[in-house]
Parts: sequence; C-alpha cells; structure tokens
Amino acid sequence: MTTKLFKAKFITLEGMDGAGKSTHIPNIISLLQTRGFEVVSTREPGGTAIGERLRELLLHEPMHAETETLLMFAARREHIANVIAPALARGAYVLSDRFTDATYAYQCGAKGVDAAKIQQLEHWVQVGLQPDLTILFDVPVEVSIQRLSNAREPDKFERENAEFFTKIRNAYLQRAKENPARFRIIDANRPLELVKQSVEEIISTL
Ligand code: TMP
Repeated sequence: MTTKLFKAKFITLEGMDGAGKSTHIPNIISLLQTRGFEVVSTREPGGTAIGERLRELLLHEPMHAETETLLMFAARREHIANVIAPALARGAYVLSDRFTDATYAYQCGAKGVDAAKIQQLEHWVQVGLQPDLTILFDVPVEVSIQRLSNAREPDKFERENAEFFTKIRNAYLQRAKENPARFRIIDANRPLELVKQSVEEIISTL
C-alpha cells in the first residue's frame, strides 16, 4: 500500500518520565532512513533556538501551571513554524519526542489546567495539525520512579511524586483511548530488546 507511506509522516513519542522512549529514537530514525526517507528528529519543549531557551525555563523554574501551558504552546508555535511544517511540506518524516499529548497529560491531567483552555491553544497554534502516529511508552508508576532515581539530576517534572505520575499515566491512557486510530501503546516495562521489537513492528506498518 504505497499511499500509506505518504500519510503517516508526523510521528510523536510520548510517555511518563522514565518510560524510556528517547532510547528508541536512533533506531526509528535509521529504520526510516534505510527505506530512503528524510527524517527530522526533534523534541518538545524545544526543537528551535527559542524553544530550547523556553525549555530551560520550563524544566527548571517553578511557575503557575497556566504560564507553563502558555509557554509550552509558545515553544510549539515556533517549532511548527520553523521545523515541523517545513519538513512535512517537503515530504520528510518528523519524529518528535513529545508534542501536545504531553500538555494534556502534564498540565491538564496532573496539574489541573482546564482542558478547554488547552483545546483553544491547540486550535490556535496547530490549525488542525495533528500527529499521524503517536507511540505511547507505558510503564507502571513505580517503574518510572525507580528508573528516574537511577538517572541524572532530576528536573522539575522528574522530582514530582507518585500521585503526580499516576495522573500523567492515566491521562495518557485516556488520550490513547480517545484517539485509537493515532495511538499505539507499547508495554515499556519489558526488556529493552522486546520493546525495540514492538517499535520496529509499528514502524514497519508505515
Ligand atoms: P523530556 O524529558 O521527555 O524531554 O520532557 C521534558 C519534560 O517536559 C517532561 O517532564 C514532560 C514535560 N512536558 C510538559 O509538561 N508539557 C508538554 O507539553 C511537554 C511537551 C513536555
């Protein structure tokens, strides 16, 4: 089905901190490149010079949850204008480590920002742009916390407690339930090789 190849171009990776999603990025890039596609790999918050400066603030400065939401979307506006839209327009794949589902999970699900406000920003900033495929790396909350405790110096989000992470996980699973055509959930609480296989199976269907 060659037509399918040209539809699923905007891929996002989601999951709680510690779910291990970023480990799989080099492999996804090389799987797509092997098939002759240009791949633009990027991340949120970030992906542009301004976005990366906002990321520094967002990850390290305490702020009101709505301020956080607005800054996430400010970074996203810049990201879409300068990276995502141009890449998609020239036919490249875009692989983004997080996108708007993270705002629904973290700012809405965990921090209580009104979903209707996020929807307004989403319509404004994305003008209908949505990922074609979202891979959700799902792990139990205890696993996420355990993995983070072994990791580098935690950022603001990574220092949150189990209740916060439970809300994030539930919000992500709810997003997946509401958007079944777009989401693929991977059980990331398995040996790396098995998770990698699941990722490869999903990418092979594109
Ligand atoms: P990362 O560590 O996966 O790069 O993500 C950075 C952190 O930013 C992570 O803890 C999730 C958080 N985040 C939000 O809270 N809202 C968002 O919209 C995005 C994109 C990320």
